[in-house]
Amino acid sequence: MTTDDRVRGQYEALPYPPRDPRDEAKRLVVGSPSNLPEIEHFVFGGRIDRLRPFRALVAGGGTGDATIMLAQQLADAGIAGEVVYLDWSAASRGIAETRAAVRGLKNLRFVSASLLDLPTLGLGRFDYIDCCGVLHHLDDPEAGLRLLRDALSEAGGIGLMLYGEHGRRGVYDVQAVLRAVADPGAEPAQQVELARRLLAALPATNWFKRNPFVTDHLTQGDAGLADLLLSPRDRAYTVGGVRALADAAEMRIVGFVPPARYEPERMVSDARLKVRLARLAPLDKAAAAEDIAGNIKSHTFYVVRADNAVAPPSPDRREAIPVPFNVDLPAMAKGMKPGGALSASIDGLQFSFALPRRAPAIAALIDGKRDLGAIHDAMAATSPGFTWDDFVAEFGAFFASLHALGKLMLRLP
Ligand SMILES: C[S@@+](CC[C@H](N)C(=O)[O-])C[C@H]1O[C@@H](n2cnc3c(N)ncnc32)[C@H](O)[C@@H]1O
Repeated sequence: MTTDDRVRGQYEALPYPPRDPRDEAKRLVVGSPSNLPEIEHFVFGGRIDRLRPFRALVAGGGTGDATIMLAQQLADAGIAGEVVYLDWSAASRGIAETRAAVRGLKNLRFVSASLLDLPTLGLGRFDYIDCCGVLHHLDDPEAGLRLLRDALSEAGGIGLMLYGEHGRRGVYDVQAVLRAVADPGAEPAQQVELARRLLAALPATNWFKRNPFVTDHLTQGDAGLADLLLSPRDRAYTVGGVRALADAAEMRIVGFVPPARYEPERMVSDARLKVRLARLAPLDKAAAAEDIAGNIKSHTFYVVRADNAVAPPSPDRREAIPVPFNVDLPAMAKGMKPGGALSASIDGLQFSFALPRRAPAIAALIDGKRDLGAIHDAMAATSPGFTWDDFVAEFGAFFASLHALGKLMLRLP
């Protein structure tokens, strides 16, 4: 049996993440990468052509999170096209298909195959490809990323998630012990049982035991434990490794999410250090942030072809439309004090964002449809003398905070 067979066998026995299709009636699972506001902001410079069918591929779709989210968001936005789900695990596909059926989604196609077979599947080119938590299981992730790149349209982009080295401290130690003591060819259920015994026996000095940031073995049942500790093959990346991978596939990183995790100047209070960190080039900043925080367990980011010069829309354009994601801004506006601060904790890391004086009024006017010009007009109507330049300064500060948290993107009409 090859390592590929064993990787596939694990997801056949224990599809990940565990999902109950009946939950689709109650909630939509949203996240990153691959939510529409982020894709539009980072990959398409704020502009997805809504008059043209949009084609997306979810490579290694698992139990369907990204597939369902993206198909639902495209349908809700009235954007024609299709989301193609691709995975080699039939059990995972079954769950994803049932979830789509519960939602009545029609803009989906399901394909059972290895993503390594992409060149011969005849699926055509894609505007966007999601590959979340998959490349790090391949024998050659660089070759995998090149295959995905070859399936992209010229202006397309890819949303990736790869394991982070620092935050998975201890994971590979436990994996190595389990590999050493497991019976060759043991069934997944036996392996899970042995893993639970080892976890219960670990002394307080063990790095996995001391790592509070990896929790799938506690929160995601047997599938979570297997995905974390029993993978026949996985590797983890630093920011430098992610960059090398993108370079090798002739791709360019256009954004890590949430951005705050990669902005080291937000992580120190010393003013001189802040200035020095703020001067670094974007990817050097990201590497410094990773080293300072020390607990990034996965890197989520977007890449485009290296020769694609696309850039996110600037927050000083009248026609730019601020689009909230996964946040109730009107409710947030009620809790904001003019000139106060916004506190947030991401994976145990505390952030405090200074808010501009008019943050509550700005937040109350953002509805995903109004553009910045209209928001300024509405504010100026009640505050004569509030100029466009005043607004740009206030909105710029507001946007920097909410965007850093991954809660606000920009799009162009
Ligand atoms: C950790 S799960 C992630 C699932 C999904 N992307 C998500 O984030 O929820 C990895 C998935 O990738 C699939 N996979 C791994 N290698 C693959 C390959 N070479 N071809 C197709 N699917 C693959 C597995 O079957 C599994 O469903």
